[in-house]
Amino acid sequence: MQGVSVMGRGVLWLMGIAFLVLGAAGLGGSGSLAQEPLRKKALEVLVPLRSEEPPPPGSTLGQRVALGRMLFFEPRASVDGTVSCSRCHLPQLYGTDGLARSIGVMGRTNPRNAPTVLNAFLQFSQHWRGDRESVEDQAAKALVGPPSFGNSSQEAAMARLKAIPEYRELFGKAFPHDKDPVSPKNWASAIGAFERTLVVPSRLDSWLLGDDRALEERERRGLERFLVTGCADCHGGIGLGGSMYEKFGIHMDYWKATGSKELDRGRADVTGDPQDLYVFKVPSLRNVAMTPPYFHDGSVFELKEAIRVMGITQLGQEIPQEAIEELFQFLCSLTGPLPQGFSEAPVLPAGGFRP
Ligand code: HEC
Ligand code: HEC
Repeated sequence: MQGVSVMGRGVLWLMGIAFLVLGAAGLGGSGSLAQEPLRKKALEVLVPLRSEEPPPPGSTLGQRVALGRMLFFEPRASVDGTVSCSRCHLPQLYGTDGLARSIGVMGRTNPRNAPTVLNAFLQFSQHWRGDRESVEDQAAKALVGPPSFGNSSQEAAMARLKAIPEYRELFGKAFPHDKDPVSPKNWASAIGAFERTLVVPSRLDSWLLGDDRALEERERRGLERFLVTGCADCHGGIGLGGSMYEKFGIHMDYWKATGSKELDRGRADVTGDPQDLYVFKVPSLRNVAMTPPYFHDGSVFELKEAIRVMGITQLGQEIPQEAIEELFQFLCSLTGPLPQGFSEAPVLPAGGFRP
């Protein structure tokens, strides 16, 4: 009897020490000990994004970024003078347009939803079906896309820019070694340089880099779910997405979950490979709370519903309401501040549109 009670006291004493040690670490280190295992687990699949210094304004790269920023907001490069990149990628709407499907020149409807341009360059390919290699490739081809700028040729668009003297000067400064600087290649290169400054880190990044206070407890619970449920298996890396293609509708046809009226064959129409039927790029989830409606066809308007759809179609499970709430809180923590060069529109060179 006595032996047992002595042992009992010993255990109690040990528990007391453990409590003191843990408690002290909890107080002194603002709980870092408690958050470290989750951070370690998160860093196995996620990569923190850091903001970057803009290039010096006087440098060639600085001139390119400044020119690219103007061209991003420039409607006169489109066939009817009404469409700029910013028509469908509005700063006010975090680089999207709020429409299920964008509307371009002459009221033409695009086949898919406009993703945000923020952090877009981080992805391994561009567009829902990955049919654009890079942001530069995307910008060059947008000039002749029938439902975007609608030009008959890239040169036709350049001729209209050349007719504005200040643009000849600005292209010349940004591409000083070019004999004919107002070219489709330089248009793409300048816009791409601007897009590569649209880096938007969020509170998640501060937290991943060690700031315990950057995420609230419910957001950390959401992160835990994001890792454990399997979301991060597809939405991983620096973009929380944007690094692989996957079938939309692994466990159930996607349109049964989204209510989509038209079917999109996805990458199968790009590669001609039947294996790519209903395969799309896994989109980046950065700033996702600010960019409804969701999915390639904008068929889902609420983020919580999009999470539920992901559970059914990609993971084969009905995610419980409480888990959806936590995942939602986590996704909201991925919203970062707009870069100033994006939220403020530049003044463009004067000049009327010549059809
Ligand atoms: C008429 C609307 C419209 C205009 C104008 C437009 N876009 Fe887009 N943008 C879209 C749509 C729609 C998509 C998705 C296309 C797809 O996946 O098939 C897209 C996709 C993109 C993407 C890929 C993002 C990702 O996550 O894959 C980038 C980058 C982009 N646009 C930049 C630009 C730039 C730069 C311009 C100007 C040169 C421009 N866009 C003009 C509607 C537009
Ligand atoms: C097997 C891969 C896979 C898994 C697992 C997965 N997703 Fe997705 N997710 C995708 C693909 C592919 C899309 C694009 C679907 C489309 O519109 O064509 C997508 C789209 C989304 C979107 C819409 C984004 C937008 O901008 O329209 C959200 C939100 C999302 N996923 C959240 C989640 C969450 C939360 C989880 C975990 C519960 C999850 N996903 C699990 C592959 C996956």
